[in-house]
Parts: sequence; C-alpha cells; structure tokens
Amino acid sequence: MNRLLDNLQPYPFERLRALLRGVEPPMALRPISMSIGEPRHRAPACVREAMVAALDGLSSYPPTAGGEPLRRAIAAWLDRRYGLPEVDPATQVLPVNGSKEALFAIAQLVVDAGPGSPRPVVLLPNPCYQVYEGAALLAGAEVVYVDPAPGDAAPDWDAVPSATWGRVQLVYVCSPGNPTGSVMSRAQWARLFELSARHGFVIAADECYSEIYPDDAAPPEGALQAAHALGLTDFARLLTFSSLSKRSSVPGLRSGFVAGDAALIARFLLLRSYNGGAMSATVQAASLAAWSDEAHVVENRRLYREKFDAVLPRLDGPLQVAAPAGGFFLWAGVPGGDDTAFARDLYAQYNVLVLPGSYLARGGPGRNPGAGFVRIALVDGLDACVEAADRIRRFSTRTTA
Ligand SMILES: Cc1ncc(COP(=O)(O)O)c(C=O)c1O
Repeated sequence: MNRLLDNLQPYPFERLRALLRGVEPPMALRPISMSIGEPRHRAPACVREAMVAALDGLSSYPPTAGGEPLRRAIAAWLDRRYGLPEVDPATQVLPVNGSKEALFAIAQLVVDAGPGSPRPVVLLPNPCYQVYEGAALLAGAEVVYVDPAPGDAAPDWDAVPSATWGRVQLVYVCSPGNPTGSVMSRAQWARLFELSARHGFVIAADECYSEIYPDDAAPPEGALQAAHALGLTDFARLLTFSSLSKRSSVPGLRSGFVAGDAALIARFLLLRSYNGGAMSATVQAASLAAWSDEAHVVENRRLYREKFDAVLPRLDGPLQVAAPAGGFFLWAGVPGGDDTAFARDLYAQYNVLVLPGSYLARGGPGRNPGAGFVRIALVDGLDACVEAADRIRRFSTRTTA
C-alpha cells in the first residue's frame, strides 16, 4: 500500500459528520444544508438537449485530447471572456473531467520528488480547497500553507521564507477563492509571475468560481488575462483550471478544462493518456453547448445575486459578513469566535448546516486563519437561503444575548 496515503487528512465533511454525531436537530424545522458547495440550480436546457442528442457518443472511446470542436469552443470562450484571441486550441487547451481531477493530477505531473534533489515544496493558500493538499502529499512534496496578509484574504506570498522558494515546484492559487471569495489583483498576479520566473515553479490557477460574481459588468480578472496584460503571452509555467460545475450548474456533468503553457499541456496529455483522463464524446457535446452559451450563465449569476441581496442584510450584524468578490460562499465571522461550536449548536437548535472555517485551513490554536469563521454556501433556492438566514440570525442574537 502507498504509505503516503497515511498523510491524507480527513475531508472537511467527514470532520463535520464527526462533530455532529449524536446531535438531534429539531425535526419541526426542515433541514437546510449550506455546508457543501454543490450548485443546485437547474441544469440549462441547452446542455441537457445537447447531451441527449449525443448519446451515440457512448459507443466510442474518446481521444484523450478531446475533440477539436470542443477545444475550439473553449478557446473561443477564453477569447470572449478574457480577450485572448491567440490561445491555440490544439496545444493550449485540454478538456478534463471536472477541475477536481485535473487539480489533483497537476501535482503528479509537476512534482519531482526523485532522489538527489532537495525535498520539493508545494505552496497552498490557507484556507483552501483540500484537494490541493492531498495532491501535493501524494506526489511526495512538503506542503507549505500561505496565510493571508493581515486585512487581506489573498495569500501573502511575501511571507514565504526566501530559503523555501528554491524548493517550490508548484503553487496553487484559487481566484475567486474558496472559501473567502477573494479575487487576486493584477499586482498580486504580477508578483507571483515574477517569483515563478525567478524560481521556476508552476502556477496552478483554480478558476472554477470565475463566472459567479456580483456585477455583470465587472467580471474578475483571470490568470491568463493577467499574464497576457503583463506581456507574458506564452503563459510559461502557468495553467488555469476552469469548470462548468458552478458556471453552468452541472456538477454531475464532470466537465472542465485546463489552459495555458503549451509545453505543460503536452506533458499533461502524456500523463492523461495513461491515467484515463479522456472525456466522453457525449459529455463533450454537452460541454460544447455550455461553453458556447452565455445566457444561462447570466441567469445563474442573477439567481446568486438575488440570494446574496436577501441574505446579507439579515446576517450583517449578528455575523461579520461582506459580499464576496466572487463565488457563492459567505465567509462569515461568528460571534464568540468558536466556529465548531457555532456550527454544532446551530444545527442542534435550528437544523441548518454550515461548515466550520477551521476545517478548511491548517494551523494550531491561535494560528488557524479559518478559525472563527463559518462557510455558508448559498446553493439552495432563494426561500431556503432566506429561511436559513433568519434562523442563523435568531441563533446568533440568542447566543450573544
Ligand atoms: C475551489 C474548488 N476547486 C475545484 C473544485 C472542483 O470542481 P469540479 O471538479 O466540479 O470542477 C471545487 C468544488 O467544489 C472547488 O471548490
């Protein structure tokens, strides 16, 4: 058995289940789950129809690189969304079966933990999506967590000791971030690109929340867009990971893409031809329809905006909350600062599930940047979110009274 498996941490939802074991919520109140970031808006008609029309695709093995029509549709979307007309669909785009598997596989691709060289380091934002951590550990790397700078939610790269940078092989970035919703600024990207040029590490930019943002007229800047604006047009050592799961509310489709550095994509393709990363032709057809349509994405954003507009005024005060720059999570400071007690007692008294922030970050007592926060996913319908917010408000004001 691979001994590195022993280094894996229990998933946050497993820890939540353990926290709530034996707790009996009030059955008179309908359960409302805001712990898991699973989009629940209806899958768009264009995606459903394209999928049904492409069922013949089940009869053939798809190529690992995906079909040309899908890669072209993705490149066209990258151009429309980020103004990147020069992305080459043949060499700079690779469809993947959801961003999760690709975010895991990138560490297996990049990290060289062979004998004779210093132990590789993978940098992770703290807090972050736990898949990065498992991917780095299973690749044999040492994981270094980068806390946010005081007063900021984005990781403070300058806090990484200079001796560490020489061993860094891979840096995960998430923008808009899970769980904080923060978006990397152009200056933060510039700093990271400069460090990557100096030390040679790869940047894996997780952008699976890129299409959920409050103002239709002000989409968050993407990593490739920032690189392009800074003159780094070959996207050297940079890959972005995008997904339809949140953009098009199809988490069950398992569809996303990786784009960027052509040399990295070529090596990724080699790895994927062994680990079976090819996307079914049926899923490709549905994905092509999704990436080619923006109307359902605009509607999706409207639904999230409606929920944030209704929920924020109810929670602002009892909790410390602000509208996120992107994504569908509220990253809320809880009264008293004990996030696990808050999540447990809220469930026990009001049958609402939220995720303790300390489960999403690392660091001992007094050092865990997720402590004192809960992550509230606005994925259910408007009524359920409003009902949950009213319950959380009652619970919080009772707790602090
Ligand atoms: C930050 C982040 N990255 C990646 C993923 C994976 O998404 P998918 O595999 O559905 O594209 C998730 C899912 O919740 C996530 O929160």
